[in-house]
Amino acid sequence: MQSVQRLVTAFLILFAFSAEAQDAKMKTFIDALMKKMTLEEKIGQLNLPGSGDIVTGQAKSSDIGKKIREGKVGGLFNIKGVEKIRDVQRVAVEESRMKIPLLFGMDVIHGYQTTFPIPLGLSCSWDMNAIEQSARIAATEASADGICWTFSPMVDIARDARWGRIAEGSGEDPYLGSAIAQAMVRGYQGNDLTKNNTIMACVKHYAMYGAAEAGRDYNTTDMSRLRMFNEYLPPYKAAVDAGAGSIMASFNEVDGIPATGSKFLMTDVLRRQWGFKGFVVTDYTGINEMIDHGMGDLQQVSALALKAGINMDMVGEGFLTTLTKSLKEGKITLKEIDDACRLILEAKYKLGLFDDPYKYCDVQRSKTDVYTDANRRTARRIAAESFVLLKNNNSILPLKKTGTIALIGPLADSKANMPGTWSVATDLSKAVAVKPAMENAVGANANILYAKGSSFEADPELEKRGTMFGRELQPDSRSNAELLAEALQVANQADVIVATLGEASEMSGESSSRTNIEIPQVQKDLLGALLKTGKPVVLVLFTGRPLALAWEQKNVPAILNVWFGGSEAGDAIADVLFGDVNPSGKLTTSFPQNVGQVPIYYAHKNTGRPLGEGKWFEKFRSNYLDVSNDPLYPFGYGLSYTTFSYSDVKLSSASLKGNQTLTASVTVTNTGKRDGKETVQLYIRDLVGSITRPVKELKGFQKISLKAGESRTVTFSITPNDLKFYNGDLKYDWEPGEFSIMIGASSRDVKSANVNWVK
Ligand code: BGC
Repeated sequence: MQSVQRLVTAFLILFAFSAEAQDAKMKTFIDALMKKMTLEEKIGQLNLPGSGDIVTGQAKSSDIGKKIREGKVGGLFNIKGVEKIRDVQRVAVEESRMKIPLLFGMDVIHGYQTTFPIPLGLSCSWDMNAIEQSARIAATEASADGICWTFSPMVDIARDARWGRIAEGSGEDPYLGSAIAQAMVRGYQGNDLTKNNTIMACVKHYAMYGAAEAGRDYNTTDMSRLRMFNEYLPPYKAAVDAGAGSIMASFNEVDGIPATGSKFLMTDVLRRQWGFKGFVVTDYTGINEMIDHGMGDLQQVSALALKAGINMDMVGEGFLTTLTKSLKEGKITLKEIDDACRLILEAKYKLGLFDDPYKYCDVQRSKTDVYTDANRRTARRIAAESFVLLKNNNSILPLKKTGTIALIGPLADSKANMPGTWSVATDLSKAVAVKPAMENAVGANANILYAKGSSFEADPELEKRGTMFGRELQPDSRSNAELLAEALQVANQADVIVATLGEASEMSGESSSRTNIEIPQVQKDLLGALLKTGKPVVLVLFTGRPLALAWEQKNVPAILNVWFGGSEAGDAIADVLFGDVNPSGKLTTSFPQNVGQVPIYYAHKNTGRPLGEGKWFEKFRSNYLDVSNDPLYPFGYGLSYTTFSYSDVKLSSASLKGNQTLTASVTVTNTGKRDGKETVQLYIRDLVGSITRPVKELKGFQKISLKAGESRTVTFSITPNDLKFYNGDLKYDWEPGEFSIMIGASSRDVKSANVNWVK
């Protein structure tokens, strides 16, 4: 009898902590709360106004303050500073009738004050622990400064270098993109959202925003369901599976309907197929923009969004100003408003804001936990991992810390251009520029001479567009001819030239599409002149997108692509240039030979007229007259200061059945003289399918460290799960047959073995 009682007690305790019990408790709490709310207060929770006019002490008197008191605001975003946030939260919980706390969101995209590489750069580390850690540090700092919700991760697959926002995502591949999406969500949310150092993730931009036609931002997206499900949707789903608390609708249309009004995306796929339990917010004025899309007036489009499954309206106030009328006119139902309101309240509940609305407002923590030495050290280490060595003839790199080094280029001494696009919370004036970092690294052992060399762009209007939000260079009244003359004079005195060129940090990112994806001509002229001196030249390339570098690849002996490395970029660049860190980044996006090749990606289909292996042009084959089909640098590519060799691929069996596991292995050897890291990549090709299949798809990767001379066997376990895809009926399954298993150092450089797999 006693043991039965004990069992019952144990069961009750277990139940009390179970997810079901927690959900039931939350439901009871929110039911009770919503019973007391007026219709206007419920609609108020769906409102996320812009917060531009909030400054400390003003919240009460501003228009926003009035709305907060009236219960017409669910949250605010991009307010920086714990005191300001505390002040505004106080208005909500002390002066509004329902005393419901606000959500405070921010674009914490690649770090808070300590910033990490732009996401495209971060992805090139292929290091999931580092990526998770970057998000963890971002969450710790943001939460210490009042923020509980970040508009990240951005998981849009992008295959068109013209699109500026390719900088904000993880590149072209759904498998890698999914792994990174999950690492980011884990980093932000941890395993307990009620802690005061975790924040809620918001996966964006759902969906297919990265496939904008012609790479022009906000442009139309149109694609088959097969491509959607197999190539573009997986990272959003992966983030949802990892428990992301919220998701942001994208600006673009999909299948003729703006994502913000798409019931297919917001309800059928997100909620019904994927079982998403969090809330959906629009992007900035996403509802209002449906008027320009041609979907009706504000009342119509607001109703469309609500009915599609949107829960929160960012900035536009379409919900706030029209939903009551739509309800009266029978165009929407009270249940639709209640459902949306409940999801917003649930998010606040999950974050623990009802228990303590000030839990992220610990002024002390904002002083001790933000931009710490430890965080900056980690950011420096991770930045160095994101750099990709594209070329290194005659081992020019690493540089010696002796002699005279000419450091030349508009990015050599610019703090403001180091953190990269979307670094809202960082202090640009504290970022580490390349020049002081290199000086610091060499001390008295070498002489570093500096010249700016050129502006970013010859045309001042273009320069202005690429340097918005404080990213301009120090004012310099000299002409480009004068800057060039000075650069040559400096270069002529040096043993080696380090040219820091490329994009200014706002030449990529939102609303920064380009049709010319080369280094701006004025900087290319500078580079050409530097090469003519006959001295060895190292190009340290800053960019937020793949650039067309055919000329540079042909003419410059060494190229180190450093993206925008974050607040500690300068030190990280010095670490790699001088060989204190051996570069190990590998591209997550193909670099085209020229802009005419885009969109370009390794996981393309074969076509019925594929070009022969190693061929450039054959009449009546799928190719171009003027360039080969190959990218300049393929997905997965990146050099090291050491070299690696790969053995043939060994399979555990050449034929398998059903749910068996295949192991595929290679032995990788560090054949050079330095210790190094290598990312070993596994690709699979399904040779015959009921629909056409890509020529290869990434299905695994392992980043390993090898000492000089060391060998290691790297093994991948492959199950039928890795062979699954959405077929013509959009059913996710695998098909028996022949598969090519490829392992190698990049998508271009693989060895393969075939396997037959039956059901
Ligand atoms: C961007 C989003 C961002 C939002 C809020 C929009 O313009 O598309 O990525 O989260 O602004 O700042």
